[in-house]
Amino acid sequence: MKFFIVLLLCCSSFSSRASPLPSEDVDCDHPEVFEAVDLALRKYNGDKADGNQFALYMVTDAQRTAGPGAQFFVKYQIRESTCAIGEGKAWQDCDYNASVEAETGECTAEVYIDKTQKISNVSQECKIIPAAGKVT
Ligand SMILES: *[C@@H]1O[C@H](CO)[C@@H](O)[C@H](O)[C@H]1NC(C)=O
Ligand SMILES: *[C@@H]1O[C@H](CO)[C@@H](O)[C@H](O)[C@H]1NC(C)=O
Repeated sequence: MKFFIVLLLCCSSFSSRASPLPSEDVDCDHPEVFEAVDLALRKYNGDKADGNQFALYMVTDAQRTAGPGAQFFVKYQIRESTCAIGEGKAWQDCDYNASVEAETGECTAEVYIDKTQKISNVSQECKIIPAAGKVT
């Protein structure tokens, strides 16, 4: 539940982005944005070979292009959780790893969702930031 709360508190969109397609900003707490981010993050965790899963920390930017399906451009921040990869848990059920050595990261994802066709795909890049140590 706390992830939803974080999501609601978060974000307003970054303004400057040169996009080849006409797209519009959407609220970062829009349910469809959450769906897109969830899809992207599950894919990221699914592709991760070992270590812990990442859990969503905040959505920082969201844009949507309308079409037959919806194309989302989302930027989101993640934190290492306490659930190990392969444990089969959803990231929503995991707590943030409170260790000062826990990793954080930022992902930029393009998510395509077509509900009528039941197709979706994700292409994304995540930059993982190793713990910088204590912030006081
Ligand atoms: C938290 O993160 C640290 C550093 O990555 C790791 O060593 C530790 O096992 C993690 N704790 C849990 C409960 O997963
Ligand atoms: C994958 O996403 C791209 C847009 O990034 C879209 O044009 C393409 O049709 C999608 N492919 C499938 C198989 O859904």
